[in-house]
Amino acid sequence: WVRMVTAQTPTNIAVIKYWGKRDETLILPVNDSISVTLDPAHLCTTTTVAVSPSFDQDRMWLNGKEISLSGGRYQNCLREIRAQACDVEDEEKGIKIAKKDWEKLHVHVASYNNFPTAAGLASSAAGFACLVFALAKLMNAKEDNSELSAIARQGSGSACRSLFGGFVKWIMGKAEDGSDSLAVQLVDEKHWDELVIIIAVVSSRQKETSSTTGMRDSVETSLLLQHRAKEVVPKRVKQMEEAIKNRDFGSFAQLTCADSNQFHAVCLDTCPPIFYMNDTSHRIISCVEKWNRSEETPQVAYTFDAGPNAVLIAHNRKAATQLLQKLLFYFPPSSDADLNSYVIGDKSI
Ligand code: DP6
Repeated sequence: WVRMVTAQTPTNIAVIKYWGKRDETLILPVNDSISVTLDPAHLCTTTTVAVSPSFDQDRMWLNGKEISLSGGRYQNCLREIRAQACDVEDEEKGIKIAKKDWEKLHVHVASYNNFPTAAGLASSAAGFACLVFALAKLMNAKEDNSELSAIARQGSGSACRSLFGGFVKWIMGKAEDGSDSLAVQLVDEKHWDELVIIIAVVSSRQKETSSTTGMRDSVETSLLLQHRAKEVVPKRVKQMEEAIKNRDFGSFAQLTCADSNQFHAVCLDTCPPIFYMNDTSHRIISCVEKWNRSEETPQVAYTFDAGPNAVLIAHNRKAATQLLQKLLFYFPPSSDADLNSYVIGDKSI
């Protein structure tokens, strides 16, 4: 027999960034972070997990290509989720798996991203969240999504925030064993559904410095990172929670842009400095800043992760339409900026 489960998980974009670990193995951050989870129809991972007595080892395929599961991050997730496995009884298929059997059984995993991985956008966040969620269903684990988030976190920090829709907070926690470092949902996806997220793909080249290496260097060398984690983020997280609760777009945009800019300032303050944004990214920032200043309240927020692509969050459909017009005007398809716009959240624009 074979028992199979398929799950789908969208990626998330941080509006208050996670950058820096206090424990590299358990993946414990130096500050809280807040993200918005994208519409499941876009930028998501679909993962099928299967178990069968005929499987003689754990194996995984990513976008059709077999990858090694020997890395510590996969092993940690698999071990933690196996420890939570329960009895499974599927009368229809005549499958009966006792809790104690899970230690001997092996799993096969097939995972697909619906977005080119090379664009550096369909990050590890959706991947690990989906893996952990699918395995939990396969093994009938009773954990709630916050408890599962603490397992996904050990695959990739940002993954813990993809277990929920809407706006999500990753609480850094205090415990040394990481048991209180998990994600909670602040508001669900219906709370602020007029927002439209547009991702401007500035370059589809893979990033040069991975987040993991970059943040390690920042923790070791950046004084600004220490100031940010202790003094800036705690206050900003509170303000951001208020802005989200009240759907206050002006404050939301100001905090989102400021936090992205400080994250990239930390990267510059790192030795050797890390450059994730390029000229096109900077031009997008200038364009949005200029526009926001010409209006009574900001219309668009920008944020950049560990790469040059811009994530633009528009206040509503009208602002999103205007934004696309501006992007097409400043970066026509024939220009060398290599800018393709992907509309996330509302295909009809
Ligand atoms: C800039 O979660 O990819 O996107 O925990 O080492 O796997 P690891 O790092 P990762 O870092 C994400 C960094 C970021 C900001 C964020 O998503 O909060």
